[in-house]
Amino acid sequence: MQSQRFLFVAILACFLVTIKSTPLSDISDSDESTSVDEKTQKRPDDDSEFDGFPFREDDDSLQDSSREMSVQDHNWDVLIFTQQWPVTTCYHWREENPDQECSLPQKKEFWTIHGIWPTKLHQMGPNFCNNSANFDPSKLNPIEDRLETFWPDLKGMDSTEWLWKHEWQKHGTCAMLVEELDNELKYFEQGLTWREEYIMSRILDASDIHPDSNNTVAAINNAIVKALGKNPSIHCLYDGKHGISYLSEIRICFSKSLELIDCDGIKQGDAVPVGVPGGTIITNCHIGSLVHYPSLVPPLQRKSHWKLPLVNVYKLLQFLMWFTL
Ligand SMILES: *[C@@H]1O[C@H](CO)[C@@H](O)[C@H](O)[C@H]1NC(C)=O
Ligand SMILES: *[C@@H]1O[C@H](CO)[C@@H](O)[C@H](O)[C@H]1NC(C)=O
Repeated sequence: MQSQRFLFVAILACFLVTIKSTPLSDISDSDESTSVDEKTQKRPDDDSEFDGFPFREDDDSLQDSSREMSVQDHNWDVLIFTQQWPVTTCYHWREENPDQECSLPQKKEFWTIHGIWPTKLHQMGPNFCNNSANFDPSKLNPIEDRLETFWPDLKGMDSTEWLWKHEWQKHGTCAMLVEELDNELKYFEQGLTWREEYIMSRILDASDIHPDSNNTVAAINNAIVKALGKNPSIHCLYDGKHGISYLSEIRICFSKSLELIDCDGIKQGDAVPVGVPGGTIITNCHIGSLVHYPSLVPPLQRKSHWKLPLVNVYKLLQFLMWFTL
């Protein structure tokens, strides 16, 4: 009797130890993360499955080879004004890492500003033109509310200042070359002015292109050309896992005197002029397939938790078998 009770206590103790040494969270974490991390671990050079992610040169990556250019020629020809579709930005951001927060704008059908990027024709940059022109957030106080609305940092709740700082240091300091943009407040105000004037959702709506639809790049391009009379540059993120191109950014171009011009001749990541019947489209989107203009960030495809209890029952059985044999 005594020894049986001892045996029981021993079994219980061993069981608890086993449970402890294989924490439940490990099981669930590894189950969940394999689907997401697998690819990244296998291809450490590639930062995501969105292999259309083309904006390394001109978006917010801080390690930047073009920084070296900053001592050289800071002249430029064209201002690229970029609006982004927040749903696609957030989807991509979250696919890179499901733990990353993304704050979508409150309003529906609301394109937001990414930046104003001075650029030479047929070249990237210049970037980071003036190291003494420090970013001073207080200079933006008069327009901060509007910036929060129209030029938000989607990637994180509290980092709005970070996006503005980056855009200013990398692009604003180069835009300073023209008087209309020669300080922080002017640079950001210009973005707001253009955002009010060129409302991308309306431009697309006017050609019956609404969120939650699939369209050819040609149709999107036509909609913009119809509304503006100038050629834009149209950017997609390609989700290789599901084989879907997502509409990501639409860029329009301005001269040094801030007049709307064709984007012809700008060099933008992997966007190139593509010949189509009736003209040329500057884009990185797959020209032959439909581009999805999503209305919602697709839900995370987490593996369900049903495995968890089974795994543990199995472990317990295994343990008991080992113990009793
Ligand atoms: C760089 O920025 C500083 C501070 O705003 C300004 O005084 C200076 O004139 C700028 N230099 C050039 C070359 O634009
Ligand atoms: C658009 O295409 C995607 C991907 O093929 C598909 O899942 C979706 O249902 C399509 N949406 C519409 C409105 O046709």
